[in-house]
Amino acid sequence: MNVLIGFNPKGFADDAVAILKKAKHKVTTLSASNNIDQKELIKAAKGKDAVMTLLTNKIDDAFFTAVGPKLKIVANYAVGFDNIDLAAAKKHKVIVTNTPSNAVNDSVAEHAFALAISLAHRVAEAHLYTTHGNYKGWTPDLLLGMNLKDRTIGIIGAGRIGASVAEKAYKGFGMKVLYSDFNKNKIIEKAFKAKHVSMDKLLEQSDVISLHVPLLPSTRHLISTREFALMKKTAILVNTARGPVVDEKALCRALATKRIAGAGIDVFECEPAIDCDLTDNLELRKMPNAILTPHIASATYEAREDMAAIAAKNIVAVLAGKKPISPAK
Ligand code: DGY
Repeated sequence: MNVLIGFNPKGFADDAVAILKKAKHKVTTLSASNNIDQKELIKAAKGKDAVMTLLTNKIDDAFFTAVGPKLKIVANYAVGFDNIDLAAAKKHKVIVTNTPSNAVNDSVAEHAFALAISLAHRVAEAHLYTTHGNYKGWTPDLLLGMNLKDRTIGIIGAGRIGASVAEKAYKGFGMKVLYSDFNKNKIIEKAFKAKHVSMDKLLEQSDVISLHVPLLPSTRHLISTREFALMKKTAILVNTARGPVVDEKALCRALATKRIAGAGIDVFECEPAIDCDLTDNLELRKMPNAILTPHIASATYEAREDMAAIAAKNIVAVLAGKKPISPAK
C-alpha cells in the first residue's frame, strides 16, 4: 500500500523506511524535516493509505477531507498528539497512533534533569561567566547553588515519563518524590517511595517541579499566577511537556520578581516562537534565571530511532488489518 512519511527521515528515522519497505509498502518521503507547508503535506498525502506526521503538522477535519477516504492511519512521530483532532479522525475512520517508548522516557527524563541540575548548579550562568573572561580565581562565595540530594521533586503527571523522572530522582539523586495525578501510580510509590499529594501541596513543598502532563483543555495554563504564588521562592520549574501548560506571561513575572528561583524550559507557549509577544519586555529570553532549550528533550538518537520503528510498526499493523501497537488515547 502507499505510505507517506511526511518529512525527511534520513539520519534519524531510517528504520521507519526499512520496516515499511520490508512489509512491501511503497514509501514516499518529503525532502524537509521542519517547517513543512500544510499544502505540501496535504498534496503529498492525497490518496495515501497511511501518513506519518510530525507534531508540527495540524491534522484536522480539513486535512482528512482533503487527503481522502483511502487514509487508514495517521502515525504521529511523537508521544504527544495534541496536533491531531481525534474526533475528526474518528469521524473519518482514521486510526491515530503515537510513539511511547522507554528510550523516549529516558531521554525526556534525563533532559528534565539536565535542566534542573543546570539551574541548581548554575551551569549556564557559570559557562557565560567563564567564557566571558570573568573568572579571576577561586572564591568561596562564587555562583552558589543548591544540592539536589535530599531535596524534594514534585512530578506533575505520573505517566511513563513522569515515572522515569521519579526513578532518576530517587535512585540517581537521592531526592524525595511527590507526585500529583488523577490516577495513583502504585509502581512509583513502591519502587521510589513516591507520595501522591494534591497539586497545591506539591507546589508548596517541592524544590524542583517537573511537568509531565499532555496538553489538553484541562492542562492549558495549569501553572499560572496562583500556582507560582504557592511555590517556594527557591523552587525550580522544569517544563519538558508542552508549552501552553505554563502561562508564559505569569512565568516571566515569577522569574523577574524572583517569586521562584529558576525555570528550565524546553517547550514554548507559542512555538516555534520563543516569546508569544516579542514586544513584551519581560520575555523569557532575557531571564538570567531561565535556561531555554529548543524542544529537544526527546532528541537522542536512541529515542528518535525508537520513535521511527514504533510509528512504522503501527502503520504495518493497521495496513495489515491488525490493531495498532500504540493507539493515541
Ligand atoms: C513528543 O514526542 O511528544 C516530543 O515532544 C517530541 O519528540
